Amino acid sequence: MRGMHRKINFITMKILIFTTLLLALLSNEAQCRPPNELNESTQTFYKQIVLPYALDALEPVISRRTMELHYGKHLTAYVDNLNRLIKGTALEGEELENVVLMAEGPLLDNAGQTLNHELYFLQFSPDGGGEPTGKLRRAMTHRWGSVENFMTAMEEAGRTLFGSGWVWLAADRGGNLYILQEENGLNPVRRELCPLLGFDVWEHAYYLDYENRRGDHLKALWQIVNWPEVERRYENN
Ligand SMILES: [Fe+2]
Repeated sequence: MRGMHRKINFITMKILIFTTLLLALLSNEAQCRPPNELNESTQTFYKQIVLPYALDALEPVISRRTMELHYGKHLTAYVDNLNRLIKGTALEGEELENVVLMAEGPLLDNAGQTLNHELYFLQFSPDGGGEPTGKLRRAMTHRWGSVENFMTAMEEAGRTLFGSGWVWLAADRGGNLYILQEENGLNPVRRELCPLLGFDVWEHAYYLDYENRRGDHLKALWQIVNWPEVERRYENN
């Protein structure tokens, strides 16, 4: 009898742990981006973002030719692969951030790169540049001493990342800021952090315009950062 009680208690404990994990996962739903919408023309769930500016609008920081390839070829391939790979899996229909959180292998690679590039292209503007204001500026100054120090640290993280990947400014639920180096297509959502600003250091992002001068490219990106968009992501975190 005592053995049976022990068994029931063990099962109850397992149910409690499972429920807690499930609730934690659900409470982690996409917060940093708008929800997915079904693409009615193709009946696929994840559709490529529409750029809010012309392909040549970010020149001379990013050329039209780089945008044609980066947005028009690389991102399109990631979105197509994501839609193909997720079909019939348990993650089909999930919010993109949750797919990045839970997927592995090629599905993670392509979901991660879809999310990364969505955040990347939407964080730039031909009217960008300057410095952040308000709450984000205060948090940045608290963490790095000044906005200039933050920018130097972000550039350094991008310059020293070996191989292909991303450097991110990300925030935790408490509003604390971090600079992260992520390999390949990974994103800070895998660490339960909210991605605020991402610099792509795959060669396809800069090689046509800057050849091997990755540092020059990173330094130039500050001219097109749309700080109000980055601040909005921080506020919504
Ligand atoms: Fe890229």
